[in-house]
Amino acid sequence: MDLNTTLVPMIDLSRKEDGSSDNAAFARDVAEGLSRKQKHLSSRYFYDGKGSQLFQQIMDMPEYYLTRAEFEVLNDNKTAMAEHFAKDGFFHMIDLGAGDALKTKILLRELTRQQSSFDYVPVDISGDAMQQLNDSLQAEMPDVNVQAVVGEYFKALEWLQENKSERKVVLFLGSNIGNFEINEAIDFLTTIRSYLSPGDKLFMGIDLRKDPDVILKAYDDAAGITAEFNLNLLSRINRELGADFSLENFRHYAMYNPLEGVMRSFLISLKEQEVAIRDTGRTFHFDAWEAIHTENSHKYSLDQISELGKTCGFEIETVFYDNRKQFADVLFSLR
Ligand code: AVI
Repeated sequence: MDLNTTLVPMIDLSRKEDGSSDNAAFARDVAEGLSRKQKHLSSRYFYDGKGSQLFQQIMDMPEYYLTRAEFEVLNDNKTAMAEHFAKDGFFHMIDLGAGDALKTKILLRELTRQQSSFDYVPVDISGDAMQQLNDSLQAEMPDVNVQAVVGEYFKALEWLQENKSERKVVLFLGSNIGNFEINEAIDFLTTIRSYLSPGDKLFMGIDLRKDPDVILKAYDDAAGITAEFNLNLLSRINRELGADFSLENFRHYAMYNPLEGVMRSFLISLKEQEVAIRDTGRTFHFDAWEAIHTENSHKYSLDQISELGKTCGFEIETVFYDNRKQFADVLFSLR
């Protein structure tokens, strides 16, 4: 046994109660999306092993300003952020979609430096990611009290409501909210709100409206990494659902609509073709130039953020920006 690895008990809520497999749900979603008049595949399926690796590469690309901007927001404002979080005493810092928590570690270090009273509850669907995070925190910040939870966000929040009774600060970083349609974002935030009590807070990373060319380049980079990321969804369907997509028959297409503030990504069929997907028991027809919509990335104005918050029972307490006001981390309290 590796003596450097401490097996900290993790809460695993990822098992399905109805016995159905993730594969069956994936097949069902793919069949439903490709049967629509306007074909659709959900961006939540981007993140298999290869997709997660490609997303790491995207975050390092010169064009993908979001990650650097949010690092800047956190680094430049960490002292004030930690003070806001901790000013009313002990709290549980709940990190939804924690992953490797590289950004959250900026706050963890600052909270530790300020000797704040808190524990850290990273939540992620990937058990491997949570074990690695546990190990790295043990090594880097042994004084931080960590309770990792493996599972979907709402299951985790339900568990936390029953098992963690103190004040909560919920982190949702990285502009992940941008990948929801507006009505989904409202449902998501309203549900989070329903698990919170007076004194609790929500701290959310949001990509802001800016020069459309800057946004477009971030999702259509010169090296073609985002194209590979988008096309990898078809490779995943080939591998996991037994499909016969030929990747060279599709291309990545990204467009930004400045009226709506939405970046949309598509896979375009380059010719008329049929694709069989074994696990759906069906074959799907694609016309030449037919599009599959794969992702939305919403960019918000401050007014929209405030409206969205209000609709879901939150009000803005403080907004933290990077130097160029490309990105905001917004602290909400309950209305
Ligand atoms: C995870 N999410 C916030 C990214 C985004 O910017 O919408 C996913 C992504 N898609 C293409 N590039 C990055």
